[in-house]
Amino acid sequence: TLNDKTYDLKAAIRTIPDYPKPGILFRDITTLLGDARAFRRAIDELVQPWSGAKIDKVAGMEARGFILGGAVAHQLSAGFVPIRKKGKLPHTKVSIAYSLEYGLDEMEIHDDAVVAGERVILVDDLIATGGTATGAVGLLKKIGADVVAACFVIDLPDLGGADKIRALGVPVRTLMSFE
Ligand code: PRP
Ligand code: ADE
Repeated sequence: TLNDKTYDLKAAIRTIPDYPKPGILFRDITTLLGDARAFRRAIDELVQPWSGAKIDKVAGMEARGFILGGAVAHQLSAGFVPIRKKGKLPHTKVSIAYSLEYGLDEMEIHDDAVVAGERVILVDDLIATGGTATGAVGLLKKIGADVVAACFVIDLPDLGGADKIRALGVPVRTLMSFE
């Protein structure tokens, strides 16, 4: 059934070697998203710790964080805040440069995306080096959010990202690891 507790979520992730660069094992969530049972289970597991908590908003990072974060926000009856790659947001914004496992970029958030003190959880598909999540936490703090936690489907623990986010004082929750 859609709520089968024995369902193997990890088996729904596809691994592509040498994408987007040689040496990277790309953990592809499109196979999870396309599997109705796996998609529901991933969202249910991401939401579970927060069902009794007051979460005002879910922030998601472009692009895969939008898919998961949007579904999590809906299930929590919370608002959704997009964190976008540079040049995509139309209103007054705050920017931050960041690095990730395979590159360098800049991300942005609208400066009025949260009311100061609002409780926000960050959602993305995967944490690798933690560069993207560090940037996102920085943006959220700059605009006055209380960042309650950062939640990911996949952790790549060898790259140390989750520990970097914990060192910022933000609890991290992940659903599975690829060593
Ligand atoms: C991927 C992934 C995370 C980030 C993790 O996004 O969805 O956001 O990399 O890497 P890090 O922990 O080393 O920063 P990507 O930048 O490839 O963008 P996309 O979602 O638009 O494909
Ligand atoms: N983002 C950063 N590293 C990644 C990886 N190995 N697979 C998928 N997305 C990623």
